[in-house]
Order: sequence, then structure tokens, then C-alpha cells
Amino acid sequence: MVDNFAVAQAMTIKLDGGLPPAPMFEAGIRRAPNRGFALSRTQTEIALKNALRYVPEEHHQIVAGEFLAELMTYGRIYAYRYRPAERIYGKPVHAYKGRCLEGKAFQVMIDNNLDFDVALYPYELTTYGETGQVCQNWLQYLLIKKYLENMTQSQTLVIESGHPLGLFPSRPEAPRVIITNALMVGLFDNQADWEIAEQMGVANYGQMTAGGWMYIGPQGIVHGTFNTLLNAGRQRLGVAADGDLRGKLFVSSGLGGMSGAQSKAMEIAGGVGVIAEVDFSRLKTRLDQGWITTFSADLAEVFALAASHQKSGEAISIAYHGNIVDLLEYAVANNIAIDLLSDQTSCHAVYSGGYCPQGVSFEERTALLAGDRAEFTALVDKSLRRHFELIRTLVGRGVYFFDYGNSFMKAVFDAGVQEISKNGVDEKEGFIFPSYVEDIMGPELFDYGYGPFRWVCLSGREDDLAQTDQAALSCIDPSRRGQDRDNYIWIRDAEKNKLVVGTKARILYQDAEGRKTIALKFNEMVRMRDIGPVMLGRDHHDTGGTDSPFRETANIKDGSNVMADMATQCFAGNAARGMSLIALHNGGGVGIGKAINGGFGLVLDGSARVDAVIESAMLWDVMGGVARRSWARNANSVATCVEFNQNYAGQGHITLPYIPAEGLVEDLVGQAFKKLGQ
Ligand SMILES: NC(=O)c1ccc[n+]([C@@H]2O[C@H](COP(=O)([O-])OP(=O)(O)OC[C@H]3O[C@@H](n4cnc5c(N)ncnc54)[C@H](O)[C@@H]3O)[C@@H](O)[C@H]2O)c1
Repeated sequence: MVDNFAVAQAMTIKLDGGLPPAPMFEAGIRRAPNRGFALSRTQTEIALKNALRYVPEEHHQIVAGEFLAELMTYGRIYAYRYRPAERIYGKPVHAYKGRCLEGKAFQVMIDNNLDFDVALYPYELTTYGETGQVCQNWLQYLLIKKYLENMTQSQTLVIESGHPLGLFPSRPEAPRVIITNALMVGLFDNQADWEIAEQMGVANYGQMTAGGWMYIGPQGIVHGTFNTLLNAGRQRLGVAADGDLRGKLFVSSGLGGMSGAQSKAMEIAGGVGVIAEVDFSRLKTRLDQGWITTFSADLAEVFALAASHQKSGEAISIAYHGNIVDLLEYAVANNIAIDLLSDQTSCHAVYSGGYCPQGVSFEERTALLAGDRAEFTALVDKSLRRHFELIRTLVGRGVYFFDYGNSFMKAVFDAGVQEISKNGVDEKEGFIFPSYVEDIMGPELFDYGYGPFRWVCLSGREDDLAQTDQAALSCIDPSRRGQDRDNYIWIRDAEKNKLVVGTKARILYQDAEGRKTIALKFNEMVRMRDIGPVMLGRDHHDTGGTDSPFRETANIKDGSNVMADMATQCFAGNAARGMSLIALHNGGGVGIGKAINGGFGLVLDGSARVDAVIESAMLWDVMGGVARRSWARNANSVATCVEFNQNYAGQGHITLPYIPAEGLVEDLVGQAFKKLGQ
């Protein structure tokens, strides 16, 4: 066996030799709850040896005990000592060291994901969604940065569940970074085995833009939420195509990483939002950002204020400091007329702290998580059952409830409520309430290819963002489709709505053509030196990159919703076409084993090479998804693919489905089953 001296000699890229001082924690920064140490003695030994792989041997005596204490106290080894003492935030790209632009650009993105103002639990490298981490620990963070500083345009950095495996020779046309997170072998692809793997230091839950380094703060989800609420209003509340949500009441829960977008989106849509949040620190963050107007722990006060604003037609977002289940008890008892109802507690991690049970304060929930998991789990199940009852009552009174892709209905089912499943037996045919993708986002946006196109002005200059906003606006024809009109208004008002938290970034839902046109325009602006370099990306809440039967692909009804071919093809196709970064993750917003989702990053450097990547990869990233949706017989996708085949004749071609005449199949199968006596 090669000894440690030889190992150190054989690496030119490694952590600095010195031992950083013992960790210090700033007061008032949110901390992740104890995840619940669950390893056997042998697994614990392996976990410790795994973490020590990054550390020179001379420090093992000191850090081994420290890492073991972290593992047994928090259920994770974060290697807190190795967190840099200085402020971490997305600095202008030129402030970073590197041998290629991409190497510096990805450091901007990583640091933004860990900014105290942006991240959910910055000390635990958690960006959003309760468990979505950039990487597993600070050792990996430091090593990833070293690799990015050293990387050239002829190399590709490989990241496996947070671990930088190394730099491998490649070509300028290939991706600079390839990331995978928590991809588990099928037999072990479940929450319990993932938890063991995570604690042993071999798995990382990346959500999408946390582990894929593309988070842009809650703005990323405001536009999608705005679209969802507006379209729900049009579909269910008789709001005119060019109308807004004036006078309408939306009730939901969560002011966290993504859920924090709900209040802002409802206000932008002109309506009244009431959002319950148990954790005062998160409520305060949104208040300080101006993303909620006011808050109260008194439900009578909350609903009186809501009613007065509904009457006057003024927009307002009100936070209720308390449990959503208590809020719904009040709404049911007092016959509050809710127009739109949803939930955005982190039910994808329902027993790990994502859902605070009724009757327990946020602080008590944290103590229970650490002290009595069995009791906590029992309380969560009881609360979910009550939560369901209250929603069912409200739906019975005509309220439109939709699941917000947080696995709420799955969590209710797992808590023992079989009636929530459509077939009364299992989840395979879905649930009795619609998911927002099934009813709204799927048919209205994803099936056309509209999705969360985003960009970050890497210079950090406000003016670059203003120029890109204007450039994007000039690429949208508001008269083409209703969606384009909404997008036009969105980007026109984006600066006024003060959406930026962290790096100078923007989100703008666009279809394939829109994304391509805007990206080419931006690259031209970089080439002309009108603006500095730009990072393009998206999240996983999209047409093509995600296979997630309880969310993004909830409106795929040909049986292929259990397959992950689309997301995998999207990832591979983006690699082949030269995106700067590509990522493929297990879990995303819904939890381990429930989704495979991929993302990308593309650094616009103004070159002709990048123009060529945009032409092919941007189109593929979206149209691969639209083509699959079309093959699943989704009507709007079929129409979009017909258009594609005309516009790209000779360049691209999509296979289209023939649809049997109405009743033909049903009659035939009916007769056949009759013969079988069924
Ligand atoms: N916004 C979207 O478009 C979108 C899309 C898909 C999925 N999601 C899902 O929504 C969930 C929320 O995401 P996030 O990033 O905001 O997570 P988060 O953990 O940052 O926020 C959830 C918030 O809910 C609060 N909460 C928990 N239980 C509560 C209760 N009983 N009553 C009131 N508040 C309670 C928590 O304190 C927390 O602030 C996740 O499961 C995510 O995957 C969101």
C-alpha cells in the first residue's frame, strides 16, 4: 500500500497542510436540525475513515474525534473547522482565481449558494429545500475550489455526490464540470439506505440547483409561482386572460427557500396571500426583504386584514406566524372563503424536520427531532391526517386545492390516509387532489416548452442586469401567446419588483425558441463588451430535465411517468452538445427515489463556440422534453412538435403519435374484459 507521504507527494491539488482553527459560529444564523445518527459501529468506522481521506495524517488525532462528535451529534460530518472564516458570497467573477473563465464562474455560483443571505443552513452547506446541499462538507468545498482554480479549458472536473473525483483530460468543446448527486442503485434507492449512505459520506442530496450550483435565491421560483397562481385563477376562478388576481385569497404555508416565493408572487399577481410559517427566523427574513407586507400570530387579525384588502382590491401578503393546520382549523370553523389553497411545507423530507406537526412549536420540533424521533414521527403522521381532513372539508365547500410538488399528498398517504390515493390502494394512479403540474404548469407551460430559463451577470454589475432585462424584453412578442404576454409583463416589471437576493440574477420562463434567441443575444452583447460574462442555467422545474411522477411529469399519462429516460437523455445530450456544466440528481424537490432531475450551466464568453452550443444544446434541452411529452399524447406538445418539424425541416425531426378515434380503444378493451368476466 502506498503510504501517506507518497500520497501527499502524488497530489499537486490538495488541501493546504495547516490545520484551521476550531470552528466559530455566528449567532442568529439558522442551523440545520440533528439529522439523527443511524449508523452501526462498522459503518461509523467507515464514515470516519471516509472523512479523513481529505485530511493530512498529522491532523488525524485532532480532527478524528471532532468528526465523530459531529456525526453522532448532527447525523452528518460537516467538518465545520474547515469552513473559511471570511464572508462567503458570490463575488464578481474577476475576484476569483482560475485558469479559465468557467473555473472562476462556477466559484461565483457555489459561493452564492452558501451566502448567509441566500442559504437555508449555510454552516451545513444547505442551500434550500431543508436538505439540498452544495456538497457534503467543507473539506469537499475547499477541494472543489482548488480544482476550479486549477482547471483549464482542456479538462473536465468530475463531482460525485459532492466529492471532487478529479480533473480529467478532455476538450474545450466538452463540459468543464460534470456533477451527479445521490444516484443510487435501484435496490437501495430509498430514503433509509440513502440516509445511511449520506451519513457514511458517500451520498449528497443536491435538490437540483443546490448540488448543481445554480440557485439564484427564491426569485428562481417566484416567476413559476406567479404563473401557477395566475393560471389557476384563469382556470378555476374565472379570471380574464389579461386579468390579475385582484380580490382573490390564496392560502398556503412555508416562507422558506422556495416557498418564500408564494407571498411575493401573489402580491405581484395583484391578490391577497396568507402564508403560515412556524419558524420566525424565516418569516423575519422575508419581512426584511419586503417579500411579505406584514405578519401576525393572531388569526382573527390575519383574516380581517385579508378581507379588507380583498374588498378594496389592494394586493397584500400576510404571514401567519403559526402552524398551517391551526390556520385551516380557523378557516373551517369561521367559514373563510378561500379561493386558492396549497401547501409548501418540506414534505419531501417530512420526518427529517421538513414538516412541523400541529401542537408543537418550531423550537419544540427541533428538540423532538434530536431527542425523540419516534414521538416526532407519530406527531407528524397525526398532524398530516388532520391536515388532510381540513383540506377535504374546504374542497367540499368549493375551494380549489392543489398539491405544490412538495410530496404533500404522498406524505399524507404514507401517514395512513388511503382515501387520498385515486385507486384507494396505492399511489400508482395518483391522488384525489390535482398537483399544480397536472392541472396548470404541465398543460399550460411545460407542454409548450416554457420553463425556468435564468441568467446570472457574473460581473456583479447592476447595470449588466438592467441591460440583459431590456435585451430579453426585446426578444419577446407579447402577442404570440398568452404565456408570452405574461412573460413580457414579468420581465418588464422585474427590476421594479426587487427580486434579487445574492448574485445579479434573473429568471424568465421561456420556450425553446425564446431561450435560444435570448441566449444568442446575450452572447452577442458579451462579444461586443456591452456586458461582462453571463452564466445561463435553469432549475429542474422544467419541461425536459426532470422525470418526477409526483411533480414535473405528473401530467404524463402514457405509463412512462415511472421511467427516467428523459432526464438521463437530457443530461447526456447536454454533455454531448458542450454545456459548461451538467448535473444529474436523484430526489430533487420530492425526495429520494421519487425523481431523477438534471440541470446545466452555460458560461457565455462571447465566442462563436458558445453560439454553436446555444444553437444546439439550448434547443435540445427543451425540445427533448417536449418531444417525450408529445409522444405521451399531450395535446399542446404535439402541436409544438408539429411546428418544430416544419421550422427545422432537414435539421431535426420528432416522431409524432397517431391518436385513435374517441371510444375505439375503450369499446374494444371493454368487450375483451367482458369476455374475461371483468
Ligand atoms: N415553490 C415551488 O415551485 C416548488 C416546486 C416544487 C416543489 N417545491 C417543494 O416545496 C417544499 C418547500 O420548499 P422550500 O425550499 O421552501 O423548503 P423550506 O424547508 O426552506 O421551507 C418550508 C417551510 O415550511 C415551514 N413549515 C414546516 N411545517 C410547517 C407547518 N406545519 N406550518 C407552517 N409552516 C411550516 C418551515 O418552517 C419552512 O420554513 C419542498 O418540498 C420543495 O421541494 C416547491
